[in-house]
Amino acid sequence: MIILSKMQVAVLFGGVSSEHEVSRVSAGYVVRELDRALYTVHTVGITKDGRWLYYTGDDKSMADGSWEQDPHNVPCVLSPDRNTHGLLILYPDHTETVRLDVVFPVLHGKNGEDGTMQGLLQLSGIPFVGCRALSSAVCMDKAVTHSLLEAARIEQAHYLWFYADLYHTRADVIKNKIAARLDFPVFVKPANAGSSVGISKVNSIDELDAAVEKAAKEDGKIVVEEGITGAEVECAVMGNEEPIASTVGEIGASAEFYDYDDKYKNGTSRLYIPARLPEEKIEEIRAIAKRAYHMLGCRGLARVDFFVREKDGRVLLNEINTLPGFTAISMYPKLWEHEGVSGQELLNRLIAYALAV
Ligand SMILES: Nc1ncnc2c1ncn2[C@@H]1O[C@H](COP(=O)(O)OP(=O)(O)O)[C@@H](O)[C@H]1O
Ligand SMILES: [Mg+2]
Repeated sequence: MIILSKMQVAVLFGGVSSEHEVSRVSAGYVVRELDRALYTVHTVGITKDGRWLYYTGDDKSMADGSWEQDPHNVPCVLSPDRNTHGLLILYPDHTETVRLDVVFPVLHGKNGEDGTMQGLLQLSGIPFVGCRALSSAVCMDKAVTHSLLEAARIEQAHYLWFYADLYHTRADVIKNKIAARLDFPVFVKPANAGSSVGISKVNSIDELDAAVEKAAKEDGKIVVEEGITGAEVECAVMGNEEPIASTVGEIGASAEFYDYDDKYKNGTSRLYIPARLPEEKIEEIRAIAKRAYHMLGCRGLARVDFFVREKDGRVLLNEINTLPGFTAISMYPKLWEHEGVSGQELLNRLIAYALAV
C-alpha cells in the first residue's frame, strides 16, 4: 500500500500594499478551496506595517481583518536558507521549523506581486505559485510593461510616462508633451499600484495637477494613457512553457470606469462570460494574451486585460496581472469555471505548475 503524505502548502496573505484588504479576501477563497485531502495549509498573514504572523484561525477572520487580533498568532519568517526550506515560527521560548513543499503568495500589488516576495521565494528554494521575480516586476510596472509590449509590437493605448519629481519642476514641459501626443480624456495612473488605486480619468489639461498628485501618492512614476472607448475584456492564462488561455470575459462597469469601489464594494459591475464579441475577436484576444504572457516571461498564471476599441475594433492590451483577484466575484476563477475548471481543480493545477520547475 502506498501512503501519500499531504503536501505542506503555505498561503501568504495581506502584505504591505494598497491592496492589502483585497489580498485577504482572495486568500480566504484560496484557503477555502484548497483540497484538504491533498494539502496541509499553513496561513501566514503579513500586516500592513510588515509584521509576519503564523495564523491558525479561520478564513472568515482573514477576510474581515480580525485575524490580526487572534491571540494564537505567533511571529514567523520565511527563511532564505535552503536547508530550512520553509517557515521559522518564533515562539517566545523556542523556534519551530515548518518545512514547506510549496508557497502560494496570495498578495496583490507592491511587496507581493512586484517581484520582491518572489525574490525571497527564489532564494529560499521553495517552489511557489506564479511568476518569478523578473516577470512579476515587469508586469507590475505599467511603464515597463508598455515599453516591452511596444518592442514586441503588441498594440496598446498611446501613452507616455514620467517621474513625479520632474512634474514638480517641469510641469509645463510634461503638459505640452501630453497635449501634443495624446487625445483627451486621458487616464493618469501610478506606474506601480493596482486595484485602480491612484487612477483618475482626466478630461482636460486643467485637471492634470490634481490627478498627478493623487497618482504620486502611490508611486514616483506616472503613466498617462489615451482614454479608450470600447469594451473592457480580460483573459485568464495559466501554464509554464505552453500556457493555455481561457475564453474572454467582459466587464460592464457601473461607474465612470472600473474603479476600486466598483471592483470590490458596490457589486454592481457586471461580468459577461464569454464577452459580447464575435468568436474571431475572442480568438484574436486569446492569441495576443498568450503571446504577451510568453514575451514577458510569465509562468503559473496571469490575467491579461484588454480594451476592444469601439470605433475600429482594435484590440489594445491594457495590463497583465500576475496575481489577479481571487475573490468569489473575481474574473480569473470565473473564467476557468466557465471552461469547466473548478476552484479546487484550478488550485491543484497552479500548484502542479509551481512544482514543475
Ligand atoms: N487607457 C484607458 N482607457 C479607458 N479606460 C481605462 C484606461 N486605463 C484604465 N482605464 C480604466 O481604469 C481601470 C483601472 O486601470 P488599470 O490600468 O487596469 O489599473 P489597475 O492596475 O489599478 O487595475 C480599468 O479597469 C479601466 O476601467
Ligand atoms: Mg486593471
